[in-house]
Amino acid sequence: MNLRVAAAVLLFPLFNVPAACAGPPVLPGQLLYQKNCVRCHGTNGKKGASGAHDLTKSNLNAFGRSYLVTNGMGKMPAFGKTLTAAQVQQVVAYSLTLR
Ligand code: HEC
Repeated sequence: MNLRVAAAVLLFPLFNVPAACAGPPVLPGQLLYQKNCVRCHGTNGKKGASGAHDLTKSNLNAFGRSYLVTNGMGKMPAFGKTLTAAQVQQVVAYSLTLR
């Protein structure tokens, strides 16, 4: 499956949105993050349970994060079967807002 092309095509319009609309109160990815990621990464991305990396210090861009969330790495589970590609993009977009 050509994930690279799919991700590039799908991510490009999505990540232009924040510049256009001045910050919606709740990003769609926030709920997905709370449901799937908080137990290891914490609400602020810094929790570090099970050796999870601090998301506020991650240098990975949207593309790298989408790949990692979809396929997993080490103790980080793969979400490619539980989340749709669109949901992965949303949760990744939200993870990029964590500071
Ligand atoms: C079971 C615990 C667990 C859950 C749940 C989890 N992660 Fe992780 N995450 C990890 C671990 C452990 C790593 C470090 C992986 C490694 O490098 O071996 C990691 C790494 C990452 C990284 C890379 C950070 C970096 O730059 O090194 C990102 C981005 C990430 N997680 C996002 C997410 C998102 C988004 C979710 C929810 C969809 C999620 N994670 C759910 C444990 C988890």
